[in-house]
Amino acid sequence: MSDDGASPPDLDALAEHALTARTRAYAPYSCYKVGAAVLAGGEVFAGANCENASYGASVCAERHAIAAAVFEGHRAIDAIAVATESSPPASLCGICRQVLREFSGPDPSRVRVVLVNPAGERKETTLGALLPDSFGPDHLDGDE
Ligand code: THU
Repeated sequence: MSDDGASPPDLDALAEHALTARTRAYAPYSCYKVGAAVLAGGEVFAGANCENASYGASVCAERHAIAAAVFEGHRAIDAIAVATESSPPASLCGICRQVLREFSGPDPSRVRVVLVNPAGERKETTLGALLPDSFGPDHLDGDE
């Protein structure tokens, strides 16, 4: 979907990007591969989890994909797809929900979220539903 919201995002296509991204994960420790794809300004940015021998240094797939969009100048994310092997498909961790909130705009319900797995299961929700009563950059926009 473009920034003006003229057409609905193609969540099926975004889910396919996330499933493909999942195959490129580096997850030798957990063996739990995650792929993510975000839609921003009509473009798709993909990422996968990248683990580390120092476990805490690992990066989630969602944050990888979000950072890729931000690196290309995007500041408004319209949708995200996340692919895991879980059944039902797993959702974003709390840290990734907050990182996505940074680029949601003041209404997180605007951001579509689709969760999928290779078996074809699919769940749709929104960031607003996953992170209610959230704190975001709009709260820091005051005069003080
Ligand atoms: N992981 C993600 O990539 N995204 C999430 O939202 C949850 C967890 C990764 C981190 C780690 O590489 C593996 O899944 C197991 O926790």
